[in-house]
Amino acid sequence: MPTLTWPTKQFPEPISAHLKTEAFLYPYGTGDFSDELKNRLIWGDNLRVMAALLPEMEGKIDLIYTDPPFFSNQRYPARVGRGEDSRQPEKWELASGYQDKWKTLDDYLDMLYPRLALMYRLLSPTGTLYLHLDWHANSYARVLLDEIFGYEQLNNEIIWTYHGPSPIRSAFNRKHDTILFYTKGKDYTFNVNDVRIPYADNTVNTFKSSKKAGFGKKPNLEQGKVPEDWWYFPVVARLHSQRTGYPTQKPEGLLERIIRASSKPGDVVADFFAGSGTTATVAARLGRRFIVSDTQWRAIHTMRSRFVQNAALLKGEKPQPLRMAFQREEKIPEQVPQSCEDAVELKGDKLTLGANLSPTLDYWEVDPDWQGDVFHSVVQSSRPRRSGEIATELELPFVGKRVCVRLMNVRGEQMQEVLCS
Ligand SMILES: C[S@@+](CC[C@H](N)C(=O)[O-])C[C@H]1O[C@@H](n2cnc3c(N)ncnc32)[C@H](O)[C@@H]1O
Repeated sequence: MPTLTWPTKQFPEPISAHLKTEAFLYPYGTGDFSDELKNRLIWGDNLRVMAALLPEMEGKIDLIYTDPPFFSNQRYPARVGRGEDSRQPEKWELASGYQDKWKTLDDYLDMLYPRLALMYRLLSPTGTLYLHLDWHANSYARVLLDEIFGYEQLNNEIIWTYHGPSPIRSAFNRKHDTILFYTKGKDYTFNVNDVRIPYADNTVNTFKSSKKAGFGKKPNLEQGKVPEDWWYFPVVARLHSQRTGYPTQKPEGLLERIIRASSKPGDVVADFFAGSGTTATVAARLGRRFIVSDTQWRAIHTMRSRFVQNAALLKGEKPQPLRMAFQREEKIPEQVPQSCEDAVELKGDKLTLGANLSPTLDYWEVDPDWQGDVFHSVVQSSRPRRSGEIATELELPFVGKRVCVRLMNVRGEQMQEVLCS
């Protein structure tokens, strides 16, 4: 079988990260401290993170969706302003997002290849991988996946199409991405009835008007059809309610189709290039467990706020399995919170935010019984993505001897205040 080679191609023995549990997050106090925390948000380089997961998770992950940098050689800033005019990007307030910059294609493949190989090891024998790329590198990645999974394990080359402006005048507008769908074995989950879509109106009308249509084979019009391998979902820039400001965020509809098709409730879904956390958000909503990681603090923070905001939307309904452990690679410098005296006031079970803080604040969370080590985030408030203000008052479910408050501003700086009750 043909394989792809380049001068630096190798299978480095991955050096495992030492993962440190930084915090437990219980959005709006959902769940119990004694519950087993099955969801994981990990801050670190996924090569070392995946290596660290091997002893515990090898052959155990049911579905991996992966949306790595595309070899586009661009920088992607995050949008952190609120209520700005979408048509005036020069006026947007930006912060650093992530980089997709490489010296050569070889460098890029050196990054991708060992990571795909580790994903293969983490997948269960019935597991599935979806690799999301575009024209820049998908042809190379496909040959690599054929080598790792086997040529016959490719089930679909899915084309995701979308609309949007483009500066290109020397070629056709590039408006599709490619998602390669591989399974580890011949036996795998594919819930065909969970992803059916309605037939187009003209198909329904044709079958209504002619008995001979379809050469006498009438489809089950009520049941709907299995989607083709080309999908249309609008980009997130057009989906205001989903926008987090994190660059290259993918639409929830796309992930919903993938997760519904290729996993079952209770399964473990992973995304090691997690960005804004679209995979985790949808996985949790569909009752799956998740493991997600990213190198960027901005991505970690975006995910944390997104989970909290989604939990807020579900408040009052059945608590969703959004509890999670937040871990980080020990190699990453400690995110020592700057102390911020008198940022908040504690009276009884109520915390009140200083008035001068709220305009620049993106997120705050409270451990009502701080033991000085792992942070148990039980109450949170996050700046709404579109309009509205961050809560300036939080009520605690209980108050221990020391209450620890962590605050994060729009620039991504974290601060901390410890109060004694
Ligand atoms: C295309 S974005 C993912 C977007 C995501 N699917 C979403 O819907 O928001 C790629 C992400 O991979 C992250 N990344 C790049 N290299 C990484 C690495 N070695 N380990 C972990 N994350 C990495 C980047 O920081 C970036 O957030």
